[in-house]
Amino acid sequence: MATHKSVETKYLEERRQFFHGLRNLDRRSFLKVSAAAVGATAGLAAPHSFTPVAVAQGSETTESKPAFRFAYISDSHLYEKSVNDRFVRGLLRAVDDVNKLDPQPDFVFYGGDLAQLGAVKQLDLGAQILKSLKAPLKIMVGEHDWYFDLGDKWHDLFGKSTYSFDHKGVHFVVLNSVVERDFWTARGMSPMERMKTVAGLDNGVQSSFTVGEEQRNWLKEDLAKLPDDAPLIVFSHSPLYKLYKNWNFWTDDAEEVQAILKRFKQVVVIHGHTHQLLTNRIGNIHFHGLLSTAWPWPYAPEGMPELTIQMSRPDPFNPNDGCGDGEVLVHADGLVDKVYSLWNRNPITVSSAYTASWGKESVPPKPNRLAY
Ligand SMILES: [Fe+2]
Ligand SMILES: [Fe+2]
Repeated sequence: MATHKSVETKYLEERRQFFHGLRNLDRRSFLKVSAAAVGATAGLAAPHSFTPVAVAQGSETTESKPAFRFAYISDSHLYEKSVNDRFVRGLLRAVDDVNKLDPQPDFVFYGGDLAQLGAVKQLDLGAQILKSLKAPLKIMVGEHDWYFDLGDKWHDLFGKSTYSFDHKGVHFVVLNSVVERDFWTARGMSPMERMKTVAGLDNGVQSSFTVGEEQRNWLKEDLAKLPDDAPLIVFSHSPLYKLYKNWNFWTDDAEEVQAILKRFKQVVVIHGHTHQLLTNRIGNIHFHGLLSTAWPWPYAPEGMPELTIQMSRPDPFNPNDGCGDGEVLVHADGLVDKVYSLWNRNPITVSSAYTASWGKESVPPKPNRLAY
């Protein structure tokens, strides 16, 4: 008689096998491990990621064909694998999604909050998994990566946290938008107390996120050489506008950064941190949020930007619902079609034609279930 294995036993066996593979992870063993990670969630999530439909949708709804594309992954919030393996699986799944793209994207952008509490082991684990990406990696910091050691380990692993680069005629800028005023020294806080304070909601102890004067000056200088019609894409972890302060969906000097960007004909700002479909436009600046691979935040109770196509309320019985990764299709003028590849829902494309027309044209189809 065949031995019957309970769901729990199967889960534990898969988990053991999965982490055994993770121990010596290199690109060759990655496919095996990530296949196990996806297999372990099979039955819970439909494989939607990176269907050609999303790409076709983008090009149909815009006047020009995208000049190139990059993929994105964000907000994995990794704990050590002995504490929480679900978030590790989430990142592995996203890396697997991106590696399956054919042709490969020009690069992969990681949107910050790789770690949950900025610990060396969490950041090392994240860096190890991201090494398995076939395409080159560009990365920015989130507050969860930063406030244990104020960026020491992150810099060791990934280099500069403020930088710019040019790619196929588009100028890209990467900012650290989670700079806080020193609230910890006077209070005699330990590094972990500081980290946990920032990881919580705005409780009146921490100061608000900023880009800060130093980076604003750097930004002015970096952009000085560009003409007003230069295609420009800026990455920031927190949204570079003020959405909802109590949850830190907020950058305190947003208006000052927007003022630096004002002379450009159009600018795209892409941010992490909010873990949801989020679209906004303030004058010449088009804002797009990124999905998380760990969990979806609900929408803020007030301040929702009008252009936002709200994602569906996640199914509470499916821990991967509302999570995902995606692609950004970049047009020659620098505007983008933003593809949200939700792991358990139809992909949604927020096109450049939609934001360029202030939401009048190319309205994305409504999500297939109710919103919050
Ligand atoms: Fe996050
Ligand atoms: Fe964050």
